[in-house]
Amino acid sequence: MNIATQPDDAQQAHPIVYLKDYQQPTYLVESVSLNISIFSNGTLVNSSLVMKRQAGASLGELVLLGRDLELLEVCVNGQELRPDQYRLDRESLTIFGAPDQCVVDTQVRIHPESNTQLEGLYQAGELFVTQNEPEGFRKITFFPDRPDVLSVFTTRIEADKKYPTLLANGNLIEAGDASDGRHYAIWQDPTKKPSYLFACVVGDLAVLKDSYTTIEGREVSLELYTEAKDLDKCHVGMQALKDSMHWDEQEYGRAYDLDNYMIVAVSQFNMGAMENKGLNIFNTACVLSDPQTTTDPSNFYVKSTIAHEYFHNWTGNRITCRDWFQLCLKEGFTVFRDQSFSETLQSPAVQRIDDVASLKSAQFAEDAGPMSHPPRPDQFVEINNFYTATVYDKGAEIARMIATLLGKQKFRQGTDEYFRRHDGEAVTVEDLLNSLSDGSGVDVRHFLPWYTQAGTPTVTGQGEYDAATQTYRLSLRQSVKPHAKYPNPKPLPIPVSTALFDRATGQVLAEQMLLLDQPEQQFVFEHIAVEPVVSLLRDFSAPVLLDFAYTDHDLAFLVQYETNGFNQWQAAQELLERVLLKGHDAEPYLQAIAQTVPSLAARDALLTARLLDVPSENYLASRIDQDYEPSEMHQRREALLNALAKRLAEYWPTAYADQPIVPYVDSSEAMGRRAWRNVVLSMAFRAGLPEAVQWASEQYQAAVCMTERLGALRALVWNDAAGAAELSVQLLADFEQCFSDEALAIDLWFSVQSGKPTVTVAEIQALLQHPRFDYTTPNRVRSVTSHFAQNPLAVWTVEGVQFYADLTKHLDAKNPVLASRILQALSRWYTLKAPLREQVKAVLKALQQDVSSSSVTETLGNLLQAE
Ligand code: BES
Ligand code: ZN
Repeated sequence: MNIATQPDDAQQAHPIVYLKDYQQPTYLVESVSLNISIFSNGTLVNSSLVMKRQAGASLGELVLLGRDLELLEVCVNGQELRPDQYRLDRESLTIFGAPDQCVVDTQVRIHPESNTQLEGLYQAGELFVTQNEPEGFRKITFFPDRPDVLSVFTTRIEADKKYPTLLANGNLIEAGDASDGRHYAIWQDPTKKPSYLFACVVGDLAVLKDSYTTIEGREVSLELYTEAKDLDKCHVGMQALKDSMHWDEQEYGRAYDLDNYMIVAVSQFNMGAMENKGLNIFNTACVLSDPQTTTDPSNFYVKSTIAHEYFHNWTGNRITCRDWFQLCLKEGFTVFRDQSFSETLQSPAVQRIDDVASLKSAQFAEDAGPMSHPPRPDQFVEINNFYTATVYDKGAEIARMIATLLGKQKFRQGTDEYFRRHDGEAVTVEDLLNSLSDGSGVDVRHFLPWYTQAGTPTVTGQGEYDAATQTYRLSLRQSVKPHAKYPNPKPLPIPVSTALFDRATGQVLAEQMLLLDQPEQQFVFEHIAVEPVVSLLRDFSAPVLLDFAYTDHDLAFLVQYETNGFNQWQAAQELLERVLLKGHDAEPYLQAIAQTVPSLAARDALLTARLLDVPSENYLASRIDQDYEPSEMHQRREALLNALAKRLAEYWPTAYADQPIVPYVDSSEAMGRRAWRNVVLSMAFRAGLPEAVQWASEQYQAAVCMTERLGALRALVWNDAAGAAELSVQLLADFEQCFSDEALAIDLWFSVQSGKPTVTVAEIQALLQHPRFDYTTPNRVRSVTSHFAQNPLAVWTVEGVQFYADLTKHLDAKNPVLASRILQALSRWYTLKAPLREQVKAVLKALQQDVSSSSVTETLGNLLQAE
């Protein structure tokens, strides 16, 4: 890929890469043999690449990418090269005048033992693991490390026998003793893959084994590797893997293609999990689950993450991305697939609520700030910065819109065609749209602008009823804010799922999927006998902001009568936005909730728990473009929550008594009861009910699972109830002691404290000084930062911002990927009211002198451009 340098001085060190400069690789690698030999003071990597100049690609030298590698030897066709036959720089090794076909052998030394960035091969405790997506492989050996070079990999790993576990992708073909008390294993992966899917693992791990017979009759051995003490936390993940394999066969006709599927749990991992071919590597937080130590949301997330990485085997691995601009081709589509799978694990309405809640709070907020970009960007500096909510969640929404419009059968015909046409290839978003169109017989190519344009579109609408002709006329208009890097947006195809209700009876009068694909359109409903209440974007049929002239009264009606559980929730959210952002009276909301909750709770506790969601302060802030005052918003939101708690004060005792603690069950129903009980408990605190402290104390003691224990602890710690301070301290100490050997539970312990709504920066700093705090474990760092970030009141202070700046500086070299993500919490600094805005700007400007990684430099540059 050509690299164009930007004239701007500040960016010189980190050039911009453009999609338009894409060029086919000059050389392909037909096969690669790796020999990885691990020693305590360094690792030797020998690689042998069978290379071939690609017909039709541009003429050019043979270039291999490599970073932080100590080159010991390079040979072409068995001849060691003299220094004048190649050039080595910080990023690459160029071999002059290489033949069109040749074998390139290199030997390098690397240092996993001191690799804190957690990319390439790194040591985490007594475990050696790899993370190669997107550009980690070049930190292991010299290679054309780009996703459109697909090769067959053979891997020999050698290490001391104190590391009995030696794993790599594919099939184990040989293992045995090596010299000096060492041993080795040779693995061969029969499927061609890009280097970012290479993985190996060396350590001393226990394994849970199972098996699965595919619909094609292949017997697959399933293995989940972890530290011995955590082996009993692997059953949930194993079951989820089998369920996912079955689901993909049923829903997409996709069967697994190798004889084994391995998953390894690692405690130090930047991301959630990674889909390496046949050898997934998972953050322990995303694979280990046990009722005693894991909350319901985490247990649920384990299942959907297992599904996500498994689904990548077809959408990502067998069909991969041509270049990293196409990332949403695999990530967006795969998130849509894991969301669809998750609908089978809890009610579809609640699954949709959860997905949309995170879309709005993460993606809409991102798109409203300086990081705004299309799902398929056309330029970037650091690809690691583009694993974003936009690529993932908006990417998933696009796949969903197409699936909605095509309907189940035609969407399946489209995906069948995609898999038929492109199996074994590295492709683009256009290839996906072409396959879906040709396979289904319905042209969906006009969805391309959804991938290439930035910003959240707004759909503005009005309805008009004409009693004389019994018609209801709906006018809809679409618009999007102009974006400097992506100007001239085209109108988008926007599916608007619509229902009309009889306001007297609550009956549905009409249901229709409208397609708004012009700047402005009118839709007419006939034979409508009474003036209806309209419900739009049911199930959130498109990722847009809706500005419809509902009355608050109509929205309150929808909270009570909408049969689409998602839109029932959505109506409550819209009412709340009006109260919190536009100063509407809270009464219609309070009344609708009070009338709906008691009966709904008896039917569907999970949905009821969600119905009481109040948009987060960060989401609300994302809707305020200037003069944002965190304390004002905080107080407004608190006042609303308190009013809600007081309105139902007499109901909470019955509601709480209705949900006694019962033996643990892992079901949607039981999860709903536990979630609802915790909501009721925190409402009881807010309402100032004298019995609340007692309930929490008893719930903590009687808890049969972490959801109950943590719910009680959180209610106590967060609510500063009269007479509860001492108990909070005591139970925090008890919790820490009980779970002292459970890293993931200790993360929860940190997060309860860092997420406390009244937390101060000094308290956050004290947490970083705690002996259990650890900068080298991203989960631990995030247990403080990500929950703290939910408290804009403390974040948006000079000390709060300085805290972020100091942490960013500290992590910039040690773990730039992590540092860059943490820093993004400050994206919307420029919306703050003066003088804080200028003070924050000064802190960010000063930080520029202290950071140098491409990830952090790019993020900070974006932030500062936003004024
Ligand atoms: N391919 C990614 C993991 C990844 C992302 C590696 C960025 C390197 C850089 C993986 O499939 C993924 O998307 N994981 C998600 C979890 C998933 C459930 C959305 C993650 O790690 O957060
Ligand atoms: Zn993924």
